[in-house]
Amino acid sequence: MNDFLDRFRPHLKEIDNALNQSLGARVPVVADIVQYSLLGAGKRIRPLLFVLSSHLCGYKGQDVYRLSTLFEYVHAASLLHDDVLDNADLRRRKPSARQVWGNPAAVLGGDFLYSAASAIAVECRNLELIRLLSDVLKRMVEGQFLELDHTHDWKITRVEYMEIITAKTAALMGAACTSGAMVAGADEKTIERLGDFGLKLGIAFQLMDDLLDYTSSEEVFGKPVGKDLKEGKITLPLVYFLSELDSAEVERLAELFKSQKAAETDYAHFIRRVRASKAIDKVRSEALEYIGKAGEVLAFFADSKAKQDLLELGGYVLARHH
Ligand code: IPE
Ligand code: IPE
Ligand code: MG
Ligand code: MG
Ligand code: MG
Repeated sequence: MNDFLDRFRPHLKEIDNALNQSLGARVPVVADIVQYSLLGAGKRIRPLLFVLSSHLCGYKGQDVYRLSTLFEYVHAASLLHDDVLDNADLRRRKPSARQVWGNPAAVLGGDFLYSAASAIAVECRNLELIRLLSDVLKRMVEGQFLELDHTHDWKITRVEYMEIITAKTAALMGAACTSGAMVAGADEKTIERLGDFGLKLGIAFQLMDDLLDYTSSEEVFGKPVGKDLKEGKITLPLVYFLSELDSAEVERLAELFKSQKAAETDYAHFIRRVRASKAIDKVRSEALEYIGKAGEVLAFFADSKAKQDLLELGGYVLARHH
């Protein structure tokens, strides 16, 4: 799988160099948490989307990698908070920050990274970019809030689910692409198109993440699996699986898992049923559809290395194992 990202190796190296620059944390524990969270084995998809989008629009500036880090800061901050929300003890193959330092410290580490991201955005001296960033931060929080609101909601619809993943995940990927086009000085239509590309890719990305929570293993995925159900997150694989059952059975299952009286064997058995169902292929083909639509948006752009790279990244979203 790593081979797939090989074509991006030079970009990823530059992004990591930029991430290694000091964030100016004056309190040692803050520096520790921030370093631990940022410099782990992340895939760097969001800064990569920013860099490739700016290149697609002809940007030649030297500061592209430094600017791109703001999207990794936001992402890492959201993961620090997300692991608190999800009670997750494993992140990027290591104990999560909340597991090492505790929930209060993980929340503050996230706050620090969000602030660091704003500082980088200000460096751009681009008011539109700052506006975009504050909009996307609000959107991500709304997405996590909506998800919280639907915890253990066994009646959640596909539409409600899509609203959640668009806000919590896809909006940031859309913003990374939009900003890349913005710093390159692209026209409004081009900026809008790249934002649309990133949004569609982001939806596919979260669809695959929710699928892998059912189909992968902790060793491969590098984070807990089967966790969404345990945390009462009714994701699309489950929505589709439930649609194959009669209402009495749905009621029985909801009762079992909502009451949190279910045993490990109940979870394992249920996950096997979901895995063996048509839901898995349905979600995968839906992700494929979104990547297809994202690719169609790029048809408006002339062929270039950056365009080919963005298309490859779409393929990677579908093929990734972690
Ligand atoms: C994890 O994102 C959070 C989701 C939106 C599913 P990534 O899978 O991009 O996480 P890292 O940065 O590679 O660890
Ligand atoms: C992504 O959702 C949350 C964020 C956008 C931060 P998940 O909760 O599914 O992400 P993972 O699986 O923990 O990485
Ligand atoms: Mg999570
Ligand atoms: Mg979550
Ligand atoms: Mg997940």
